[in-house]
Amino acid sequence: MDSQVRTTLVVSSPGSSMTRPGVTGNTPQDQSNGVCLVVGANRGIGLALANALARKDSTTRLVVTHRPQRKSDELAQLERNHPGVVEPLALDVTQRDSLAQLESFMGGIEGGFDLAIHTVGLLHAGALQPEKSLAECQPENLARLFEINAIAPLMVSRALLANLERKRPFKFATLSAMVGSIGDNRRGGWYGYRASKAALNQFLRTLSRECRWRFPRATIVALHPGTTDTALSKPFQKNIDRQRLYTPGRTAERLLRVLDLVDERNSGQFINWNGEPIPW
Ligand SMILES: NC(=O)c1ccc[n+]([C@@H]2O[C@H](COP(=O)([O-])OP(=O)(O)OC[C@H]3O[C@@H](n4cnc5c(N)ncnc54)[C@H](OP(=O)(O)O)[C@@H]3O)[C@@H](O)[C@H]2O)c1
Repeated sequence: MDSQVRTTLVVSSPGSSMTRPGVTGNTPQDQSNGVCLVVGANRGIGLALANALARKDSTTRLVVTHRPQRKSDELAQLERNHPGVVEPLALDVTQRDSLAQLESFMGGIEGGFDLAIHTVGLLHAGALQPEKSLAECQPENLARLFEINAIAPLMVSRALLANLERKRPFKFATLSAMVGSIGDNRRGGWYGYRASKAALNQFLRTLSRECRWRFPRATIVALHPGTTDTALSKPFQKNIDRQRLYTPGRTAERLLRVLDLVDERNSGQFINWNGEPIPW
């Protein structure tokens, strides 16, 4: 396990914050069933998270989603390597009928789930590229970024939470991005990606507040994975120090370490891969 991952996470309580050392992840064993879900497991960080979760002894069932008709060879291999544990599920996070199928699929899992990680995200695709200036901002590109990076994860959370029991402990995380931090925005640029991740963070924070009464044992967090060598970051890697460009496997290991450490007292936080809180 990466020694740089802190075993100290900042715990916020209303009106204050304090440091809680040595949190060890205390989801009560009585209700946990080892069911995990990775939304967007076809490649990149999602695939690496799925690989890492499948190797964990505590994982009894791992639902891994991919877009319909787009299952990668790597995901198919993961399924073959872990028969009876890894279960692929077709899901387009932008389609209502697909989300309805997810809701009914998850509703059929007795006891609910322990951990769900939403990884799907978009930075560039063909003519859609991060904007360097206001003049490059196009309404249809901005709308697509918001659809995939902010609205989709919220709708996925709606599908996942629809049939859960109120007192069930569970963790729901989405992969956000440091550039979604408004407080940390010094360089500007990347209007659509930044703003859509900031919107995601606000959605997550708002959801965590509703869950205080709806699911008091819920842990809902936004995570920054660190710059990771995937297709998403590929075109922007030339100015990145190689030491700070992480493999998907390393990123997955660190994110799972953070997710082991957080509990409901961390719900509503935006957390870096090393366990440190990130300013909104
Ligand atoms: N890589 C980094 O340096 C970095 C840094 C900060 C934050 N992040 C965030 O981390 C997350 C994962 O990034 P990544 O680098 O792993 O990205 P990636 O390699 O580009 O993978 C993106 C994943 O999202 C899936 N996807 C895209 N649109 C979808 C849709 N409509 N429905 C279902 N699945 C869809 C893709 O599936 P297909 O294979 O079907 O396209 C793929 O599995 C993203 O949210 C990203 O913003 C990444």
